[in-house]
Amino acid sequence: MRVLVIGGGAREHAICSAVCKSDAELYAFMKNANPGIKKIAKDYFLHDECNAQKVLSYALNKNIELAIIGPEAPEEAGVTNVLEKHGIMVASPSKEAAEIETNKEFMRNIMEKYRIRGSVKWKSFSNAEMAKEFIEMLSGEVAVKPVGLTGGKGVKVAGDHLKSIEDAVKYAKEVIEKKIGGIGKVIIEEKVVGEEFTLQAFCDGKNIFPMPAVQDHKRLLPDDKGPNTGGMGSYSCKDGILPFMTYDDYEEAAVILQKIIEALKREGREYKGTIYGQFMLTSDGVKVIEINARFGDPEAMNVLPLLKTDFVDICVSMAEGNLNSKMISFEAKSTVCKYVVPEGYGISPKANQEIFVNEEGIREEGGILFYASVNEIDGKIYTTTSRSLAIVGIAEEIEEAEKICERSLQHIKGNVFIRHDIGKKELIEKRIKHMEMLRG
Ligand code: AMP
Ligand code: GLY
Repeated sequence: MRVLVIGGGAREHAICSAVCKSDAELYAFMKNANPGIKKIAKDYFLHDECNAQKVLSYALNKNIELAIIGPEAPEEAGVTNVLEKHGIMVASPSKEAAEIETNKEFMRNIMEKYRIRGSVKWKSFSNAEMAKEFIEMLSGEVAVKPVGLTGGKGVKVAGDHLKSIEDAVKYAKEVIEKKIGGIGKVIIEEKVVGEEFTLQAFCDGKNIFPMPAVQDHKRLLPDDKGPNTGGMGSYSCKDGILPFMTYDDYEEAAVILQKIIEALKREGREYKGTIYGQFMLTSDGVKVIEINARFGDPEAMNVLPLLKTDFVDICVSMAEGNLNSKMISFEAKSTVCKYVVPEGYGISPKANQEIFVNEEGIREEGGILFYASVNEIDGKIYTTTSRSLAIVGIAEEIEEAEKICERSLQHIKGNVFIRHDIGKKELIEKRIKHMEMLRG
């Protein structure tokens, strides 16, 4: 089968690697020349991934049978719709179904309309004065979010980034006036307290099939300090849940995802592809923070290397609407993924810095390397302002996976930054204690 992957980040490198494990021919469409994808693809094309007509003409030209879209922006631009219209199967949601991610107001409205558990108090505003009233009503214990897309960087939370009611009001005003996220509208949500986790699931329009749970680390600095980023690293556990949660919590999150896709179907927006739930486990159960219409980045890198069954078969069945649980099986192993980012990332990242990647050394340590936003020029690797690459360690226990990851990271040199605390015992124990405290 001829498969096209759209997107050139580390998540897409992981998707491409999974495609190559199947009996498939890989083609790539990306805006940057990801060195890892370049190496394994039969052919690739460099262009803006949101240009649906360009994606279509490349796909037709290469006789593509199945397409998989990594990032949300091409989904929002209608790439799925255009490809499907020309008879190409797509294992990613249509523009309309992807609104569950691209429009946070739509997501909260769906949860309300269909009385789906796990939502939070929220309201959206295009008037700063009214936003202020609601912020005050919630005593400033809020999360302030642009309604549209900001790549995980537009959300500010009381206590973390907002030190007072005034701060929250000021940011809400800024979101409206500067149209942050592309829409002059802000969502104010009740701030919920707990431990976050990600649940990704394959979805064929009717049913969801959940993958192992993962915990991402959005904050830039060790011990969860600093600004939010696209994600600095993540881990998962061999039993499919995380050390601070129970199987009931996992099940609860899966039920919420199932109800959301049922609601989307009733709205005439059938959802096909991977769906991603960002949840907060609180003293009051599982709460939805956001829903994404794709694999997580970095979370795809935790789960895809564990997939024992055929990824392309799963994608075809998602697109055709006939997925079944026998087609999906993951290795019972733990994983730790750490991102390598350019120095200054999240504040003032240094681009065009050479980084030295000893691929052989990483392989010998047992680590898996996924390239992200780097440029390869004359065989040398240079940073951009985005995340550079990620390393994944896989083992029985999280501790061992973390060590593999760290040993592999020693084979990378340059002006880079890494959150070394991800997957370490101290941080995980802190999470367990936090949850124990919250649950009394
Ligand atoms: P999002 O882009 O919606 O995932 O938000 C980024 C981060 O902000 C999340 O990963 C959470 O850590 C935090 N956050 C978002 N919404 C809330 C909320 N309602 N309560 C507490 N924290 C939140
Ligand atoms: N890991 C966060 C995201 O993919 O949105």
